[in-house]
Amino acid sequence: MQNFSIGVIAGDGIGPEVINEGVKLLNEIQESNSDIVFDMEFYDWGCEYYLEHGVMMPDDGIETLKKHDAILFGAVGAKEVPDHISVWELILPIRRSFEQYVNLRPIKLLKGVKSPLAGRSPQDIDFVVVRENTEGEYSNSGGLLHSGTPYELAIQNSVFTRYGTERILKYAFNLANESEGKKRLTVATKSNAINFAMPFWDEVAKEISIDFSDVETDYYHIDALAAYFVMKPDYFDVVVGSNLFGDILTDLGAAIVGGLGLAPSANINPERKYPSMFEPIHGSAPDIAGKGIANPIATLWSVGMMLEFLDIPYMKENIVDAIESVIEEGKVLTPDLGGESSTSELGDRIISKFKEIIKLN
Ligand code: NAI
Ligand code: MG
Repeated sequence: MQNFSIGVIAGDGIGPEVINEGVKLLNEIQESNSDIVFDMEFYDWGCEYYLEHGVMMPDDGIETLKKHDAILFGAVGAKEVPDHISVWELILPIRRSFEQYVNLRPIKLLKGVKSPLAGRSPQDIDFVVVRENTEGEYSNSGGLLHSGTPYELAIQNSVFTRYGTERILKYAFNLANESEGKKRLTVATKSNAINFAMPFWDEVAKEISIDFSDVETDYYHIDALAAYFVMKPDYFDVVVGSNLFGDILTDLGAAIVGGLGLAPSANINPERKYPSMFEPIHGSAPDIAGKGIANPIATLWSVGMMLEFLDIPYMKENIVDAIESVIEEGKVLTPDLGGESSTSELGDRIISKFKEIIKLN
């Protein structure tokens, strides 16, 4: 018997709507596998909680989450609460406290999805972006001086530690080395203009590359790299970037494979000292919240990434196969994919396809 403890934070807006489908999938898996148990605990943290209690999560929130094997997260954000509070007081503390220094974002064009890039098919776009998730440009270091005067100024520091830089780059090199594809690592840089942090980042990458002779490594300035995501997405295998670069690249990445409704992510603590967290890339989508039309695919795929991280074999592959087959079928799709179905209709269709696939295997 394998027992997995999962903390579930649905959050705000469409968060609960899409997480509901993820929970249905987990329930289906434990019902059809007598040796797997998901012990799920639900937390009502988020903006509503904030409006009632003045905090996004209780003081002992991090301590409470520590016991779980993994965390499944929906999205946060509501117009009554400033975004810097909802993000800085819930998501970022979890990522930092649990040393989830790897933000893993697959950029894979699913079968049946039309890329906005002309003439591109699934075999052309299939890579992964590794984003640094704890420091860099998002380091909460800096300040304001002389506010309200003509000579006011703002300072925002980027922080690149050797420890933080080495661990993310090593992770990326290992991932490229294990790749069944090209074993190519593309390092996002900007050493021509960001003249301390980025040459340092590149130098550390070059040191590590010595131990990975099978990995073909290249260095692209972030502006050119953004253009290459559009012009030659088939070139990439594993791409590694700092916190800001990785953030921007992955929204572009999501766009070339069909949009935010399809884009999953994992915040990983590779040492498994703390729980890792799995979430769709998208936010709370207030424009469609409450209508029951959010696309649950990003969340279902994130559940697949969670099960892969928990070493439950074949589940992720089967989930992705089920998603692709339902999209190819084209009958049950949410409006963002050109259909008219609801979140739960699409979720149910994928789950029943998943059941069929499991039976065949
Ligand atoms: P968003 O991702 O919520 O929405 C952007 C656009 O994509 C909207 O038009 C939305 O309808 C659409 N969209 C997003 N997910 C979708 C889905 N599953 N199915 C169909 N359409 C979908 O980003 P936005 O509007 O910039 O932010 C809204 C709120 O979410 C803000 O408060 C923001 O701070 C928060 N946010 C939270 C994140 C998180 O919890 N990790 C990440 C990004 C934003
Ligand atoms: Mg982003």
